[in-house]
Amino acid sequence: MGGAAVAVLSATRRRSTLISSLISRPARGLHEATAAAGEEKARTRRRRRSSSSRLLGSDFADTWDQASREAARPPPPPAAGVGYEPMATIIDGKSIAEDIRLQIAEEVCQMKNAVGHVPGLAVVLVGNRRDSESYVRFKVKGCEEVGIKSLLAELPGNCTEDEVVDSVSRFNEDPSVHGILVQLPLPQHMDEEKILSAISLEKDVDGFHPLNVGNLALRSRKPLFISCAAKACLELLLQSGIDLMGKHITVIGRSKVVGLPTSLLLQRHHATVSVIHAFTENPEEITCESDIVISAAGVANLVRGSWLKKGAVVIDVGTNPVEDPASDYGYRLTGDVCFEEAVRVASAITPVPGGVGPMTIAMLLANTLDSAKRVYGLSD
Ligand code: GUN
Repeated sequence: MGGAAVAVLSATRRRSTLISSLISRPARGLHEATAAAGEEKARTRRRRRSSSSRLLGSDFADTWDQASREAARPPPPPAAGVGYEPMATIIDGKSIAEDIRLQIAEEVCQMKNAVGHVPGLAVVLVGNRRDSESYVRFKVKGCEEVGIKSLLAELPGNCTEDEVVDSVSRFNEDPSVHGILVQLPLPQHMDEEKILSAISLEKDVDGFHPLNVGNLALRSRKPLFISCAAKACLELLLQSGIDLMGKHITVIGRSKVVGLPTSLLLQRHHATVSVIHAFTENPEEITCESDIVISAAGVANLVRGSWLKKGAVVIDVGTNPVEDPASDYGYRLTGDVCFEEAVRVASAITPVPGGVGPMTIAMLLANTLDSAKRVYGLSD
């Protein structure tokens, strides 16, 4: 019994020695373990960071075949089409836009009578690109026609980013301005994102603010503004009575101005959307399967008749200047779609000019009006 007690005691002592060694060892082990865990955490964080940037992908510019940009492929002579007579209905963007502008003019008038104010749009133009100057002229003229006040800030191409941001900030503070648009592209030396980020969310009539794009992408949410070009494409389709639900629609281009917001907006209308870009292999195999093709690649005559399914609807967002000695300006604007071929295959098509362009301006005016209505408590 005594032996047993000694045995128990020694076992207890052994256990307590073991316990104390376990207690003291963990103190050292814990320290090492903590350090090791810290290193592991840091490694995980690094892995996570590098894997998320890997997941976001490389930011390659969408440069389509450069040769086709510089020397637009001439359309084939009419007889060399793809064997069909012209069959497409021309979607008259100019006339649809005119109706919308009349409606806007009426609402601007009502606003003036109700609250004594009209909507205001501020446009910031940097540099002297001829195409940007003419787009801005159209926007300012559009404002005048419907009674929207326009303010234009013109800055030289060699001004600093801060000067552009200052100009935007002044418009943010101005209560008579309900929409701000910085005409793109900006000169190469400027950080476009920094400048666009300066525009207040409530005045982002271009719909480029990340919250506006994010809310457009999330179907349960409502963005304050949607890109004017995306709205223009949708309005043209809807007003032409073209059904979108379940239709296969291919959007060519993925820019923040047109391609991306258009693809998001179409999904909200339950279309099945394919997006094609400069790295897509065999794009014509995808367009050939599509009920509707919306092209915003910025490449003259990219979409040939052979790219289209018979009876497809074609929305051409491209406005590409091509040399034309016969024109007063030495150039004319042409779309992304080879019209002479497409008109023989498609069931409906927008012309360039006179299609998406005037509708985009009408949508800009509509966004500016909506913004002012929100400010003055006149929203539906
Ligand atoms: N440049 C060409 N189109 C657009 C547009 O819709 N908005 C702006 N801000 N710049 C452009």
